[in-house]
Amino acid sequence: MSGHSSYVPSAGVMRWLDARLPLPRLLYDSFVAFPVPRNLNYAYTFGGILAIFLASQILTGVVLAMHYAANSGLAFQSVEHIVRDVNWGWLLRYMHANGASFFFIAVYLHIFRGLYYGSYKAPREVLWILGVIIFLLMMATAFMGYVLPWGQMSFWGATVITGFFTAFPGVGTAIQTLLLGGFAVDNATLNRFFSLHYLLPFMIAGVVILHIWALHVVGQTNPTGVEVKSSKDTVPFTPHATIKDGFAMVVFMAVFAYFLFYIPNYLGHPDNYIPANPLQTPAHIVPEWYFLPFYAMLRAITFNIGPIDSKLGGVLVMFGSIIVLFFLPWLDTSRVKSTTYRPLYKIFFWVFAVNAVILGWLGSRPAEGIYPILSLIGTIYYFAHFLIVLPVLGLIETPRKLPNSISEAVLAKHGGARGVPVGAAASPETKG
Ligand code: HEM
Repeated sequence: MSGHSSYVPSAGVMRWLDARLPLPRLLYDSFVAFPVPRNLNYAYTFGGILAIFLASQILTGVVLAMHYAANSGLAFQSVEHIVRDVNWGWLLRYMHANGASFFFIAVYLHIFRGLYYGSYKAPREVLWILGVIIFLLMMATAFMGYVLPWGQMSFWGATVITGFFTAFPGVGTAIQTLLLGGFAVDNATLNRFFSLHYLLPFMIAGVVILHIWALHVVGQTNPTGVEVKSSKDTVPFTPHATIKDGFAMVVFMAVFAYFLFYIPNYLGHPDNYIPANPLQTPAHIVPEWYFLPFYAMLRAITFNIGPIDSKLGGVLVMFGSIIVLFFLPWLDTSRVKSTTYRPLYKIFFWVFAVNAVILGWLGSRPAEGIYPILSLIGTIYYFAHFLIVLPVLGLIETPRKLPNSISEAVLAKHGGARGVPVGAAASPETKG
């Protein structure tokens, strides 16, 4: 995919620059001439949406930081000051807070697209692993950002989550003290979380560059899962993908705008409008919605497993639920990428998706009564999907017949009407 460049600088200054720093050539080859499969659907637009949201989070965050005070005595008031007094401060704050939620909506859709179309399979393992690293960095960034307004949920969320690190034998308490900058969540904690919350998005941006670089080396998958075989299978990125991505962005932004302008606090917790009070524990401590499935798994382990006590068990299960994603390219044994051609896996995929949503709901419930048992069942299914279903299904499932090429699949869908014989598109012409 990352082959020969077709860029021809027209203006003299561009020729001059091209000979010294071929940046316009890089951009042209990556975002204008870059060949993309001709059958990409809207599930493939979330990567672009994520890039825009990352930029928006960084921009709004940098301006918010100009008015925010990272001090436990001032933080809560400084956020109120931003919303009430700073010009357009309300917009900046709500864009940033709701932007985090929409970033996660987009990333979950992006990940599920990857799971559906087998985007993690060879040769895209590194691209996928970089994605999982981005996901981990996003979670750390969001967790620390939520502490900054210094409301009740900020304080108690930080207390609960950092408390889990003490579960690790030997080093646990030392890790917790290092994270907190002391023995409890306090001013030192707020300062280091602010510093890291400012730093991590730039690290995410760095990993995103590697992610897109890897994407341009191996090329995109497509809904058939059949790799590009000839130039008939592709169209140039501009205008085809730019228009499609642009349209999807506008629709996504319209939904975002609805939340921003009509229900800006819908996704937040009312307790975070109460200043942090170390002497008063809220009735239910719940994380932001995007952490809920992992929170459910953390709390699902209510019993000791041999020498592992329940607390450590929960922490290991929670971290394990992300770690397992790193091994996904090797756990799925099927040679067919796209779920479209895997009738049995399609059922398991949707069961997995529904299970993830149910786990999210369970994470929002109190850890009592039937909820921990249901969470345990959901957790077992989550791991079984990766460790049992994917390896076994690939060996026993009979996939549907794959098209010979992307263009054959496209013409089979639309060509009949135009009278193009299907076989005519499946020429063996390859790029080499
Ligand atoms: C800030 C976050 C991210 C950004 C900006 C980003 C950006 C992109 C872009 C622009 C694409 C190509 C367009 C598309 O397929 O949608 C892409 C593809 C891809 N991304 Fe991401 N991504 C992010 C996070 C992730 C995460 C968290 C994962 C997985 C855990 C991931 C896995 C992938 C994979 C496997 C592909 C190739 C898809 C294919 O061709 O089938 N990405 N990403």
